Amino acid sequence: MNLVSIADILCGCISKNTEITIQGWIRTRRDSKAKISFLDLYDGSCTAPLQIIACDNLYNYKNEILRLTSGCSIIVVGTITKSIGIKQNVEVIAKKIKILGWIENPSTYPITAKKHTMEYLREVSHLRPRTNIIGAVTRIRHTLAQAIHNFMHKKGFLWIPTPIITAYDTEGSSKMFSVSTSENQHVLHNPKKLNHTDDNTCNFFGKKAFLTVSGQLNAEAYACALTKVYTFGPTFRAEYSNTNRHLAEFWMIEPEAAFMNLDNIIVLAEFLLKDIIRTLLNVRSDDMQYLVKKIDTNIITRLEYCTNIKFNHIEYTEAIKLLKTCNRRFNNPIHWGKNLFSEHEKYLSEEYFKSPVIIKNYPKNIKAFYMRLNDDNKTVASMDILLPGIGEIIGGSQREERLYKLDQRLQENNLTQENYWWYRDLRRYGTVPHSGFGLGFERLMIYVTGIKNIRDVIPFPRTSKNINF
Ligand code: 4AD
Ligand code: MG
Repeated sequence: MNLVSIADILCGCISKNTEITIQGWIRTRRDSKAKISFLDLYDGSCTAPLQIIACDNLYNYKNEILRLTSGCSIIVVGTITKSIGIKQNVEVIAKKIKILGWIENPSTYPITAKKHTMEYLREVSHLRPRTNIIGAVTRIRHTLAQAIHNFMHKKGFLWIPTPIITAYDTEGSSKMFSVSTSENQHVLHNPKKLNHTDDNTCNFFGKKAFLTVSGQLNAEAYACALTKVYTFGPTFRAEYSNTNRHLAEFWMIEPEAAFMNLDNIIVLAEFLLKDIIRTLLNVRSDDMQYLVKKIDTNIITRLEYCTNIKFNHIEYTEAIKLLKTCNRRFNNPIHWGKNLFSEHEKYLSEEYFKSPVIIKNYPKNIKAFYMRLNDDNKTVASMDILLPGIGEIIGGSQREERLYKLDQRLQENNLTQENYWWYRDLRRYGTVPHSGFGLGFERLMIYVTGIKNIRDVIPFPRTSKNINF
């Protein structure tokens, strides 16, 4: 049995007249008057379907082939031939078709061949991978993840897993989920019995535990020994903001490098973004072309532009001046010392610079305790990268490597030295300048696909009031 994928056949790698076996699901069936059925088959290996020609000489043509509907699973033995149709170069003439799974009730099958809205598809998240759009998104996600690992490897970074369960609020934003043992197992099955006064959160670990918001602090420990490391894993934030850019569970790539300063990691971040986007355009041009047709006609042009231009740099203080003097009415106030709102970020990246922009050296009071204090004693060596249409995609900084300054920052943030004893040790024993950043993987996905809502670029999105599947 010469088992191949649809992508193997459509790329022209297998010579004509070869006998092959192929497995997949029916997208559509069309019957001609000449008693020939055309079956469009998909198997997830590429966007385009494979056309299977089924003639009435097949033993099950009348009883089974003519009853096939969208979603049925089949296994086909046949030969590859040149197609006379205009839609495809090659097709497969079936010798034998075995039906593996029928659709229970085709008239109520949730994924018909017609177009569905993204909102509807979210309600059937377990079936939406069967659509062309989610298929394309899934292959793009895979390609980007692989490109990231390859890039980091080429640059000498070691991949380390950092813990998902933690006792630390790295970002100090208190958007953490608690982790507790479920001694009341019955609660899982009888949620009504949940007693809200139960507090078993400390029983297992001996202290309160949470789902991590970032692997950075642990990554720093490894960077301070192995020089260049990165983590790439899920992170969690109890985000109530119901936007199309926030998830409660999302993936983050966090490089951390000893002996690098803010400017060094800015260069690294720009290189990383450009390199993986180029790889995507080369490797998944079929899916990108599909997105051009279905989502956004400009997407490839926009991505090519992003890989070719130099990103703009601006100091936070300069950005504030610019926003104050640009003669534009904003809904939210602009003050030095306050965070920029998304309307301000949009103005900078979409209207003023019309390209990616890196904002540097934010005021210390709006950034996390670990960022390195600048000589002005007011700002920290931090950076955010903003992309047009997305807003912040990367946040990073040089870390405070001087113990006395770190202690000052802990105190200013009402954090205790005792709690951070091991993090302080990194400064007590052979401290080095070091820096890193976090790239939100799903934000990257919405940027490269043009898909509007972040819930559609991760398989089973988790957001407030949404934990189905
Ligand atoms: O800017 P953030 O909070 O930075 C950190 O967590 C640092 N510890 C990273 C580091 O220096 N190692 O988050 C980094 C990125 C953001 O720029 C954004 O792209 C993404 O993570 N992000 C989210 N993506 C989806 N949903 C959310 N709720 C997100 N919050 C942050
Ligand atoms: Mg940030």
